[in-house]
Amino acid sequence: MTRIPVIAGNWKMYKTHAESIAFVQELAPLLADYSGVERVVCPTFIALAGVAEALKGTGIKVGAQQMHWEPQGAFTSQIAPTMLQGLADYVIIGHSECRAYLAETDETVNKKAKAALAHALKPIIAVGESLAQNEAGETDAFVGGQVTAALAGLSAADMAQVIIAYEPIWAIGTGKNASAAQANSVIGMIRGVVRGLYGETVAAATRIQYGGSVKPENMLEYMSQPEIDGGLVGGASLKLNDFKELVRLAAQAKGV
Ligand code: 13P
Repeated sequence: MTRIPVIAGNWKMYKTHAESIAFVQELAPLLADYSGVERVVCPTFIALAGVAEALKGTGIKVGAQQMHWEPQGAFTSQIAPTMLQGLADYVIIGHSECRAYLAETDETVNKKAKAALAHALKPIIAVGESLAQNEAGETDAFVGGQVTAALAGLSAADMAQVIIAYEPIWAIGTGKNASAAQANSVIGMIRGVVRGLYGETVAAATRIQYGGSVKPENMLEYMSQPEIDGGLVGGASLKLNDFKELVRLAAQAKGV
């Protein structure tokens, strides 16, 4: 089973509406040669409509960084899945920054994953352990538990729409990336969890990204790992040439 590599830029709270649109207008031609790699940008909510419009016809997909699970309601400040329909293909769910600062839990991640799928949005479900958990040797148990909780109640057919992103918290924005072998090992463990829940065919088809201080200098090594299907990239995705290099190197490593 060949899995289509997927590079997603998570812009977090960077780039205004105008900056986001100007960036993708320059980015699109740089990525045009690499259609074998699925390319996704995740701007701020307020730039989603403009970015989606600017990327029409380019093959580059758009993702949101978060959403509520209810289709509408009295939830001041929140964005519903119905509001993302037509603007976003993907939605990042369970990012460690949302778990840390916005009260995201395994339970809300699961609700959001289900809500995304119910509204034809593809969830990129982020999981990852803290430095303390890593050093205590708890990575596999903790991350495996997060994956199991996030996927509770999802069907095998749902899994065709799901991407999992392994982002060790200690590697995010720190410049302290997990080694390619470490990342490959945890991602292999995650695939094992998916295998246990859904069987070999689903496990072999599920795309799992690595995230955490991914940059052009380490991209080839990550993408050369058999279990790693792509990257969820913060800082490097904010720079035109770095974004292009990440996609080019992913295409090179996977031979697409
Ligand atoms: P950095 O690539 O900046 O470490 O961020 C990773 C991340 O959190 C992507 O979601």
